Amino acid sequence: MLILTDRAKGGLAIYDFLTRGRRCQVVPLHQAQAQPLKHPIIVCDVDIGNMTSVRLLRAALKLHRVDADIPVLFLTRDSSHLTAALAVSLDATELVYCNDRPAAIHAAAERLISAYQSRNKGATRPASVTEARASDAKSALASCFDAVKRGEPVSTAELDRGASVILGAIKQAKIRSWLDVVWQFDDVTYQHCLLVAGLVAAFSLKWVLASDHQHLLLQAALLHDVGKARIPPHILNKSGPLSKPEMDLMRTHAELGHAMLAGQHGISPVILDVVRHHHEYLDGSGYPDRLQGRQIKDYVRMVTICDIYAALIERRPYKAPMPPQQALAVLTDLGAKLDRNLLKSFEAVVADSG
Ligand SMILES: [Fe+2]
Repeated sequence: MLILTDRAKGGLAIYDFLTRGRRCQVVPLHQAQAQPLKHPIIVCDVDIGNMTSVRLLRAALKLHRVDADIPVLFLTRDSSHLTAALAVSLDATELVYCNDRPAAIHAAAERLISAYQSRNKGATRPASVTEARASDAKSALASCFDAVKRGEPVSTAELDRGASVILGAIKQAKIRSWLDVVWQFDDVTYQHCLLVAGLVAAFSLKWVLASDHQHLLLQAALLHDVGKARIPPHILNKSGPLSKPEMDLMRTHAELGHAMLAGQHGISPVILDVVRHHHEYLDGSGYPDRLQGRQIKDYVRMVTICDIYAALIERRPYKAPMPPQQALAVLTDLGAKLDRNLLKSFEAVVADSG
């Protein structure tokens, strides 16, 4: 269920009731969204007397109502004919009044979802559990990147959710299933971050890290490239090699990401360390601080291995993923730059990814 709202602070208590037992995303209208979020119903809790809200709602519906058959349920804030007419003009499938009994609102939503799903039975392949989790993790990641683009703090709740979803997915399915799903994502940065996070999850499970460390490391892996939210898209998405000035600019993402998160209350030093230092090498040839050996923590070394491996196996329209063993050979050729023992342990993840 997708809830679009212009209410501050996450909306109404009734949302909890409305979404019982369903995966739900509450999207504030003022948050710019780049990717459509497909759900079997869109619930609009918007002041349709407010022209700005109406304008934002039109844009959001255009993006997220990927199938014209998806029902749109309006929670109206008054029961006037004018409000009803406005909602209908915005393509409302049905209207319910916010102050109606929660059970009646819930029932209306369930009825619309059920009707939509029975109309579409067999028309589309149901999403696998891994697909649903990858989609969920991507939305959590997108929310963090969107916040950074706006110069706002990342939501630690979203970050926490993303990490839990990925750990759950990798515990339940092999890393290969996760890669198969994430390779379908077009956005270069999101695909990369979700590949890295999946690999880190698989690695941490092989390495038998304590669960709270796993969770924190997953959050760090998700956010490791958050500084790229401030890198121009034409550089991020360039299909050919970067020029020297472009490469220099790209390399600022580690410091940029660190600076943005360091100013936010509640971000763990582990996350800050990974964000700033995931491009450091043990021989001191990395960036931005040219750290060496013991200055680089084990958990940063793990993310670095996963980061390089993910970059090699990424799928692009113009590039097939490098086969696992070939990618492992590239990592091995980096010699003293990477932790030899960790790389040996990573071989088990590589074996599962093929
Ligand atoms: Fe990076």
